[in-house]
Amino acid sequence: MQTRNLINNQWIDADSGATIDVLDPATDERIAVIPSCGAAETRRAIEAAAAALPEWRSWTAEERAVPLRRLAQLMVEHRERLARLMTSEQGKPLSEARGEIDYARSFIAWAAEEGKRVCGETIPASTRDKRILVLRQPVGVAAAITPWNFPSAMITRKMGPALACGCTMVIKPSELTPLSAFALGELAIEAGIPAGVVNIVTGDAPAIGAELCANPTVRKLSFTGSTAVGRILMRQGAENLTRLSLELGGHAPFLVFDDADVEAALSGAMASKFRNTGQTCICANRFYVQDGIYDEFVAGLEAQLGSLRVGRGVDEGVQVGPLINDAAMDKVESQVADARDKGGRVRAGGARVAVAGCANRFYAPTLLEGFTRDMTIATQETFGPVAPVQRFTHESQAIEAANDSEFGLAAYFYSRDASRLMRVAEALEYGVVGANDGAPSTAQAPFGGVKHSGFGREGGRYVMHEYLETKYVSWGL
Ligand code: SIN
Repeated sequence: MQTRNLINNQWIDADSGATIDVLDPATDERIAVIPSCGAAETRRAIEAAAAALPEWRSWTAEERAVPLRRLAQLMVEHRERLARLMTSEQGKPLSEARGEIDYARSFIAWAAEEGKRVCGETIPASTRDKRILVLRQPVGVAAAITPWNFPSAMITRKMGPALACGCTMVIKPSELTPLSAFALGELAIEAGIPAGVVNIVTGDAPAIGAELCANPTVRKLSFTGSTAVGRILMRQGAENLTRLSLELGGHAPFLVFDDADVEAALSGAMASKFRNTGQTCICANRFYVQDGIYDEFVAGLEAQLGSLRVGRGVDEGVQVGPLINDAAMDKVESQVADARDKGGRVRAGGARVAVAGCANRFYAPTLLEGFTRDMTIATQETFGPVAPVQRFTHESQAIEAANDSEFGLAAYFYSRDASRLMRVAEALEYGVVGANDGAPSTAQAPFGGVKHSGFGREGGRYVMHEYLETKYVSWGL
């Protein structure tokens, strides 16, 4: 297991000798000690990326695709080791960690091919003596700041396209889950990605973030995390006019109409709500269910969440793991307490679950009926396994409630009426809409939000624009 930071293919310690303990969130057991790097190491990583840039950007897309494909293949070969490492530092059930490695690999594999389709353009000029050319060129050194909830996939979602476009990178993974990042760094070296193309620094997050935003060599920053941190990065990058992609918080509504296929809606709800123990930016955060189907849907949800197995992610069959830390538990508990105080009814769950030999950080899958707009759960992201449910009568009410949020990342709805499917999909003010789909994330589609969920798109051909400059050449004959 690699535990040090990566600069120019050298594994390094922090200049100060400072370290951070990496803990298993299920048990609080210390699983690694990593260097706590800061601004100075980040500057060196940026310099390494800048030095590697001219050579890497001169490779053809086909040439860059070779080590990227090799990296994707190595992720297949090391799948089980990577998944176990992820579960040990992040807590998610092993089956989900395996799924995340596949998901993470798909971003590298997709980008390796998509890089070959980065095309320029010629535009007919208005005079005979000129030609107009449009070139697409890599932005340069790109930075990525990634979260703990998807320790591999949120890195490869940025790294695949950045590298395929010819950028070099400095990656700052969460200090809570750095080991998956270091493991990817090791595989990138083994895959033949040249020194300095991928650098990884973590530790003092504010110092590293400030350097990545303000250093003029960094031309692009892609961040996945909270809206609060996104705002800080945007302010810090203002002086440098750093190009940003921000994938920030969400508060996904999940609408179930009377004409829905109830079984499909239930399986979509379970997939969306309880993935990663409710700790995803696109988790369903509030359910609106139409009167005619309400009793059947809520009874079904109660039965299904009651059958979920809570426990340590490493134990086979576990479907709900620990929350990442005590602050996460405090947030979940305070939202449920606030909902109870304001008249919400806990129909299932609503308390911690004791797991033998583990930390007190497991929360029961919870069904909360009768949530109202004044409850914090109605407006704040939960990041935990709590499903608040509310009735509605008319389609317009459901759309209005769904859009009544500062966030606009993902929304879901279930219906079998073709007209309604198009109408509601168009009316929802969200970047990603699951129409009869509780799991819309995939490498080939554009992923990202509107409003306070950020801007920029990741995935498919859309993400390539984030790492490319458009250059216009006016060619006089
Ligand atoms: C996230 O939670 O930020 C990402 C979720 C996904 O990629 O599906």
